[in-house]
Amino acid sequence: MNPAPNLVLVGPMGAGKTSIGRRVAERFGLAFVDADHFIEQRSGATIASIFEHVGEAGFRERERGALAELLAGEGQLLATGGGAVLDAGNRRLMRERGFVVYLRAGLESQLRRLGRDRTRPLLQREDREQVLREMAAFREPLYCEVADLSMDTDGCTAAEAAVRLGTQLAERWQLTGAAA
Ligand code: S3P
Repeated sequence: MNPAPNLVLVGPMGAGKTSIGRRVAERFGLAFVDADHFIEQRSGATIASIFEHVGEAGFRERERGALAELLAGEGQLLATGGGAVLDAGNRRLMRERGFVVYLRAGLESQLRRLGRDRTRPLLQREDREQVLREMAAFREPLYCEVADLSMDTDGCTAAEAAVRLGTQLAERWQLTGAAA
């Protein structure tokens, strides 16, 4: 058993962090929080317009602030953005304050699930596949470094993946803090 006051989902775009996360949060009675959504509310701007106005560096700064604020709390399931693990401080905080789950997705699943998505600034290019491949190569070790548990999401629906993850979490993770 691995005790922690929050559950944290990491993994690439299109792994299902939000759709699986919502279901798992419900099963364990946790508050579901999507970090990107929180950043958008705080900034009063969409992720796309944040990237447009302050660039990726400005977005990462906001992302760091959001994770620090959110992870100070407890009893939450926090779905992080795919690039949140790039920052060493974020990784440390996730491990300190959460049981971290790495949701894996192969390139084919990512491309299928992301479809014609227009909300993710890093994917608004012709060579989407290449971008995703390069990101995976660079980020995979970081996801592995931070994760307490990893789970494949290829070939199953969000509902199926959520049930499977719930079973594994029930065996491996224990909620701590006032919400327990
Ligand atoms: C990003 C992933 C996005 C969002 C932003 C950058 C990334 O979140 O944070 O567009 O660097 O992989 P999702 O993983 O929820 O799509």
